[in-house]
Amino acid sequence: MSELETLERILLAEIDAAADEGAIEAVRVSALGKKGSISELLKTLGAMSPEERQTRGARINALKNTVTEAISARKLALKDSAIAERLARETVDISLPVRSSPAERGRIHPISQIVDEITAIFGDMGFSIAEGPDIETDYYNFTALNFPEGHPAREMHDTFFFQSDEKGERKVLRTHTSPVQIRTMEAQKPPIRIIIPGKTYRQDSDATHSPMFHQVEGLVIDRTANVANMRWVLEEFCKAFFEVDKVTMRFRPSFFPFTEPSFEVDIQCDRSGPIVRFGEGTDWMEILGCGMVHPNVLRAGGLDPDEYQGFAWGLGLDRIAMLKYGMPDLRDFFNADVRWMTHYGFRPLDMPTLFGGLSS
Ligand code: DAH
Repeated sequence: MSELETLERILLAEIDAAADEGAIEAVRVSALGKKGSISELLKTLGAMSPEERQTRGARINALKNTVTEAISARKLALKDSAIAERLARETVDISLPVRSSPAERGRIHPISQIVDEITAIFGDMGFSIAEGPDIETDYYNFTALNFPEGHPAREMHDTFFFQSDEKGERKVLRTHTSPVQIRTMEAQKPPIRIIIPGKTYRQDSDATHSPMFHQVEGLVIDRTANVANMRWVLEEFCKAFFEVDKVTMRFRPSFFPFTEPSFEVDIQCDRSGPIVRFGEGTDWMEILGCGMVHPNVLRAGGLDPDEYQGFAWGLGLDRIAMLKYGMPDLRDFFNADVRWMTHYGFRPLDMPTLFGGLSS
């Protein structure tokens, strides 16, 4: 066998054995690249006699053509089989169930849902939302709300105090949302109709208390706001929130430094079953504190108590969420357990509205 035939045989075998596009390219370079075996042969053509060129030259050229064609054919075949293999690998089984979208799997935390519900109810009554900082000064959390220095009610609050600054002032984590009453009075003129949902902090932890919890405060100030107005607002709120036609409420005299007179409000309910029912039964449950804003508080907010009067209330959000949705342990609210969220959470697109239903 001639040397050219041997080379052809070797190259064709290599082409045949090339398993991917990288391998076939390597064969091409080894034969037809600048220093490839066939290229080297082609370089000898120049030095050949005309006769030799016609015989051996023609055979070298024929070898070049054969190998070039074989490489192109192999490349094409490899490409086709790569596509076929990818198609086989990436087949989609359209009979499999569809994975649900994030909007369907995600859940709104019950606290966020309750804030939205309360916002919808009070928004409908013409209230707006006010907010304030979680880290408060002693002045806004206590002094401006008519807690005198050293007053025992300050201790009642189990306050988280920060270390004193250079001026000897201790900041606090706000123990209630009431400081925002003062901040609002400082910032806007009456009439004021606001609710203040937010985080609050006290040193307390058990099944119904958490060191961080949530309150909603309400404040109404104008020239004539009175206890009867307050009672109506709170009754309308309870009916809408608990989604019942009728609630019976009981106002008990109480004490808060920032209101005078002060009340605690109970609503009638039935606690005989596993979940509390409102609007029926013979039991009472305390749900909020309220009262007429104390003249000293109006003064601290820059208002003249001879000109303006108002009422305020504060209620524990987590507690009414537990009541409304039958969640037994408050600590679960803040454990970030996906199973709990899947069970008690709300669908993201179910926005509570009074016309569409609060919790449907
Ligand atoms: N700030 C009170 C607390 O945290 C709740 C409260 C009671 C707020 C009566 C009020 C109110 O505005 O009038 O316990």
